[in-house]
Amino acid sequence: MSDFHVYEPQHGHGLKHDPLNAIVGPRPIGWISSLGIDGTGNLAPYSFFNAFNYTPPIIGFASIGWKDSVRNIEATREFVWNLATRPLAEAMNASAAPVSPEVDEFELAGLTHAPSRLVRAPRVLESPVSFECRLTELLQLKDARGLAIDTWLVLGEVVTVHIDKALLDQGVYDTVAAQPILRGGGPADYFMVEERQRFHMTRPTGK
Ligand SMILES: Cc1cc2nc3c(=O)[nH]c(=O)nc-3n(C[C@H](O)[C@H](O)[C@H](O)COP(=O)(O)O)c2cc1C
Repeated sequence: MSDFHVYEPQHGHGLKHDPLNAIVGPRPIGWISSLGIDGTGNLAPYSFFNAFNYTPPIIGFASIGWKDSVRNIEATREFVWNLATRPLAEAMNASAAPVSPEVDEFELAGLTHAPSRLVRAPRVLESPVSFECRLTELLQLKDARGLAIDTWLVLGEVVTVHIDKALLDQGVYDTVAAQPILRGGGPADYFMVEERQRFHMTRPTGK
């Protein structure tokens, strides 16, 4: 006999921490760089992030509240996603500081602007992988009653991909070597990816 903790989120979870992030996790991090219309750089992590399409590649993240990243991307229609790695974890965290729009989080985190090819928003030079993106949709989320909530889904087409060649092993991208960090639950949990955790499974084929 199973014994379940059952709750309706609108009435609270009744636990020490909201388990949502721990259950839907670990999540990749959308480390998003953008430019303000005045040219100020901006960088922030978003773990409500994922990839949604192959051709063309579409990625997206959700901002809870109208944050600087969203404001910049609405105005410039461009952004860059950067891979957050274990060596860059502390810098990634520093870039989450709630600072005013005049502050460039690249400087705050000790990171360097690298030029992009097709967009004006800078890449994080220290990150081994970046995607230059053009905004495709900016959606305000709604609840089940159709009421708008203060959360904004930013979707963008990846128009240029930069990969450090050290991460390409005979043409295959090496996820473990990249040392991505993933966000878990609670206030501070992160996870890493290790080779011993890899397993293979091929998709079922049609009849
Ligand atoms: C690992 C991590 C993940 C985060 N994920 C999100 C997220 O998915 N959505 C969000 O609104 N804020 C998220 N935050 C908080 C933002 O990074 C923070 O509010 C930041 O100041 C926003 O910067 P901006 O105003 O320059 O866009 C996250 C912070 C950290 C450290």
